[in-house]
Amino acid sequence: MGIKHVLSISDFSADEIFGEILTRCEEKVTFVERRIPREPDPTKKVQLLFLEPSTRTRGSNVEAAQLLGYRTDEVIGKEASSFIKKETFANTARMFAKYNAGIIIARAGVEGAQKFMAELLEREGYHCAVHNAGDRTNQHPTQTILDLLTLKRHLGRVDDFTIGFFGDLKYGRTVHSLLCALSYQESVKVKVVQTSETALQAQYIEMFPGRIETVDSLEGLEGCDVAYGSRLQEERFKIDQLTLDNLRKKLMITPAMMKILGSVLFMHPMPYVQEFPFQVRSDKRIIIDDQAWCGVPVRVALQEMSFENLGMTNFFPYSPEENLSVIENCSLKNYRKSRQGREKKFGVYFNPIDNGTVIDKIPAELGLKVKSFLLSSDQLKNSAPIHHIDRIFETSLEGGKEVLILRDNFVSEETKMLVTSWAPTITFNEIREDRFLKIRAKKLVEVQGFGRCPNKNCITNNDPEAATKFVHVGDALRCWYCEKKFERSQIV
Ligand code: NCD
Repeated sequence: MGIKHVLSISDFSADEIFGEILTRCEEKVTFVERRIPREPDPTKKVQLLFLEPSTRTRGSNVEAAQLLGYRTDEVIGKEASSFIKKETFANTARMFAKYNAGIIIARAGVEGAQKFMAELLEREGYHCAVHNAGDRTNQHPTQTILDLLTLKRHLGRVDDFTIGFFGDLKYGRTVHSLLCALSYQESVKVKVVQTSETALQAQYIEMFPGRIETVDSLEGLEGCDVAYGSRLQEERFKIDQLTLDNLRKKLMITPAMMKILGSVLFMHPMPYVQEFPFQVRSDKRIIIDDQAWCGVPVRVALQEMSFENLGMTNFFPYSPEENLSVIENCSLKNYRKSRQGREKKFGVYFNPIDNGTVIDKIPAELGLKVKSFLLSSDQLKNSAPIHHIDRIFETSLEGGKEVLILRDNFVSEETKMLVTSWAPTITFNEIREDRFLKIRAKKLVEVQGFGRCPNKNCITNNDPEAATKFVHVGDALRCWYCEKKFERSQIV
């Protein structure tokens, strides 16, 4: 499968990141070193949209596009665009695509904005890729690829090393993206310098079971192969001056600290503020200039790949077929036979209809909600009433279960996914033409259009066209757009 959009590192497989993409980036190094642009190709246009400040990401993308012979247009800052007049991401994406952009490279202060634009363009049939150049505190996937290229060039490998993170691990998107990629490499060990103001969230720590260590100061990074810094993202959190000054001191790579850390290489996405004082700036172990340069070959490779795959449409990893599994499929007769023992024992229902759906294992008190959703969604073709069985205790469900019987009615895949998002225990027993099918959600389910994402910076709370969408991760739900993890109770 080719690479078209670059939205989140977690959309890619390990093979794609460390194989296909990284190899392509390495191949582009000499092309960029030669500095000879290709013949202009006016049919290819790259649209940059930077609603948050940038020097490197924007500059290296423009350089990459121009080396490749593509046309570029840049919209920089909200003030310079109709965003200041409350234009939406949806309409901005449509306009850029209409004006022949093959790639939109966007940086935004709204999490998931790029993923939303990419989906919308797919749905509406535009041949336009989207690259996420940073969505607030969430992801910065192209930075991660250039970080990996830097590691490859300086360590000679992208596995079997120890990397220490310091700085703003809570809000630094480059840290989050890089951790997502490194979590694939079992031989990579991670250390994090945690401070109460900037601590890395649990969802990233959980990605490294048994191979992440938290330390409370820079000295703790001794023995690492690489130390990766991140600027305190002052614009994202309120902090008093004294605490800020203390944090800065704590996270500064002084000449004395360089001595303690010995052969550790230092990386940083830049800009840095106090992290590297001028006395250490030119030390060979600080490889940030080459790291920033790697942005050019990486963006050459990624832009080229996107243009090669503009015709691709199916980038969404989770479809109903993948979300729902048929866990039983037999003749109705056999099914009923197998249930007879249970029936006798408990004296309660077993699927009493010959055609239709029995929605089973609904946790107590959710039955009415499911019922009213089904009635309002006007997908029930038959006017037969929904029969609601309240509370059956003979079940493995703690607190009892409820059952809905839909005679002569079947519900859509989307509804099944939505309903199982409220409770993954729910099963759909479909009975038709003497066959019995039991359908249940797989572990990973995409559910659309319910609840609200609790994150106010998520695109679903910032664009009227962006519907909510969550993916199951164990018992929790992860927002499809901002990628933050929530407990079910925070959403439903
Ligand atoms: C960073 C970013 O914008 O995420 N820089 C970059 O893109 N190279 C880091 C930052 O702003 O601190």
